[in-house]
Amino acid sequence: MIARIRNMTTEDIGPLGEILYESFSSGASKHGYAPKMQRVEIGKAWAWALFHYGSNELLIAEVENSIAGMCCLSPRGDLGGVGPVVVNAKFQGYRIGSQMMAALLERAGNQQSLRLIQEAFNPASFSLFYSHKFMPVTQLLDLVRDGETGKQLEPCGQVNEVQQHDLPAVYDYDRPRSTSDRRKDLAYYARWGKVFVYREQSHIRGFLACLPGSGSLQLGPLLADGEEEAVHLFRHALGVYGNRPMQTRVMARDYLLARALMGMGFKLYCLNNLMVRGAWHPGRYIEAFGIFPEGV
Ligand SMILES: CC(C)(COP(=O)(O)OP(=O)(O)OC[C@H]1O[C@@H](n2cnc3c(N)ncnc32)[C@H](O)[C@@H]1OP(=O)(O)O)[C@@H](O)C(=O)NCCC(=O)NCCS
Repeated sequence: MIARIRNMTTEDIGPLGEILYESFSSGASKHGYAPKMQRVEIGKAWAWALFHYGSNELLIAEVENSIAGMCCLSPRGDLGGVGPVVVNAKFQGYRIGSQMMAALLERAGNQQSLRLIQEAFNPASFSLFYSHKFMPVTQLLDLVRDGETGKQLEPCGQVNEVQQHDLPAVYDYDRPRSTSDRRKDLAYYARWGKVFVYREQSHIRGFLACLPGSGSLQLGPLLADGEEEAVHLFRHALGVYGNRPMQTRVMARDYLLARALMGMGFKLYCLNNLMVRGAWHPGRYIEAFGIFPEGV
């Protein structure tokens, strides 16, 4: 099946929201997982936000005037982020995903590395990305916390909420450690959510972005010098936001952090692969990932 690839327009927001909701929900239930989006409105809000604040490249695949799928690319310096990549359920298995990835890689042109997050239970997306030279470099734990855990945590004294004028300091901390240019993302998190910073004697040792959504509260991205700082940041966020449903994704290698989060009421939803095309590899810092706008 041959698809026409074009840029997303405002008219695509509604139908794409339905495709995001239906494809991710049916993909999860096919493998025995509960859907993460409870209502189609969450898919529509995601499509709206992608169009207005998300990726630089939003590609639509069209077959006979129907939307067959979409994929997104966000260049962040030399390291580009890919996703979401989604194909309408009735077009799956006809190489629409492969055609979209080929078009996206052409647009990615001079990006040294690209990375994405793949749900490990999904063999179709693994095959798709692997055949386009994305290699798994580490595993992530996709963690969720429901709003009924009943544990109330105290905010941490060494953590503060960043104001707009503090953002350059957070950016200066983040840029060399993540090797990603997330200036635009940080401004978005500070405007629509909260960015918490952990300081020791006025030196930044870590930050955590929190974004409330129409579904659960997204915790991440996080970057911290060590697991201890990361735990303080998460504890603080839980102290501020209380018993709201939440989700985050941490590296499985960061055992102490993952155990601490489970002690705070988070449960494992699924494993994810962090997949990279190019030379980029995770550094020695602690990282966690949200979903939007910087899923990776
Ligand atoms: C993952 C997804 C985008 C694939 O799109 P698609 O158009 O169906 O995939 P294609 O037909 O282009 O096939 C791509 C590869 O997956 C393989 N594949 C397709 N369906 C498969 C299945 N059910 N099981 C195993 N492999 C499968 C194909 O053989 C092909 O592999 P190859 O390139 O090595 O030959 C689509 O299934 C989807 O939207 N899923 C739900 C959302 C999602 O999980 N998105 C990815 C996370 S961001």
